[in-house]
Amino acid sequence: MTAAYPALRLRRTRSTAWSRALHREVVVSPADLIWPLFVTEGDGVEEPIGSLPGVSRWCVKGIAARAKEAVALGIPCLALFPNTPPDRRDPHGREALNPDNLMCRAVRAIRDAVGADIGILTDVALDPYTSHGQDGLIDDAGYVLNDATAEVLVGQSLNQAAAGADIIAPSDMMDGRVGLIRAALEGQGYQNVQIMSYAAKYASAFYGPFRDAVGSRGLLKGDKKTYQMDPGNAEEALREVGLDLAEGADSVMVKPGLPYLDIVMRVKQRFDVPVFAYQLSGEYAMIEAAVAAGAADRDAIVLESLTAFKRAGWSGVLTYHAAHAARLLRS
Ligand code: PBG
Repeated sequence: MTAAYPALRLRRTRSTAWSRALHREVVVSPADLIWPLFVTEGDGVEEPIGSLPGVSRWCVKGIAARAKEAVALGIPCLALFPNTPPDRRDPHGREALNPDNLMCRAVRAIRDAVGADIGILTDVALDPYTSHGQDGLIDDAGYVLNDATAEVLVGQSLNQAAAGADIIAPSDMMDGRVGLIRAALEGQGYQNVQIMSYAAKYASAFYGPFRDAVGSRGLLKGDKKTYQMDPGNAEEALREVGLDLAEGADSVMVKPGLPYLDIVMRVKQRFDVPVFAYQLSGEYAMIEAAVAAGAADRDAIVLESLTAFKRAGWSGVLTYHAAHAARLLRS
């Protein structure tokens, strides 16, 4: 191409700030951000999470305050994760079905605080509720049972929809659950509740701090490799996405984020549907560790990483830097 334009000097358009702005292909905005929040019991409680410096668990009231902050910052959606107390966990994750569990109370508190001014995404998986820390029900050998789990996930989804969730986000990676959840939502009058499927979710080493945050790290024995994806596979991610879309997912997610941008891009190119990415707890912790070590400038590295997601084709990103990034983008 360039050979046909011998005089072309690409650097010419980069030589001034106004020109760089004019030629920029991708610009991140606060409307691209989903802010993940951890909910905990108590009143007036903020618990900093050691492995996620700068991120806290908030009590239900605190979550409502974060929702107001998010609306003021132009963030369109929150993602909720509960830190269920140990005495409310059991091998079956029954607390997931309790209409007054932490998650449902947080959803209602957000709705009371900001009405329909923000979307509420609720994670569907049993790991914050099981005493063994797996996302599903297990047999005696510890193997996660697909079909039995999917049935419970349907109940969990309906419970969240009844509390007022806007987007149900199954993160468990059981086969067939999107179709079952979609049918149940339609059947119960929740036609407008969306499903954002964690379609391409890998058995990743980047989840560590999250498991601390929801209190499942110490409980988990073994790993999640029998149901989450092998990091060596990309074609399989496309098959997973295809199945979830066929079952009725409105949007799909790729997770982890930054190290898996090739997957984001391939999904976008193959299916051309809304694709979201999750910049994981481990990715956040890596950025913060680099900043603490004086190896990176936080503001610059946060915005650059978000720009990279968008360039790869995402519709939005779940990031623990959401509030910080929104502040930077608005200033
Ligand atoms: C639950 C779930 C996980 C994350 C989101 N939902 C952890 C896991 O699968 O073990 C990870 C999020 C993060 O690391 O920030 N199934």
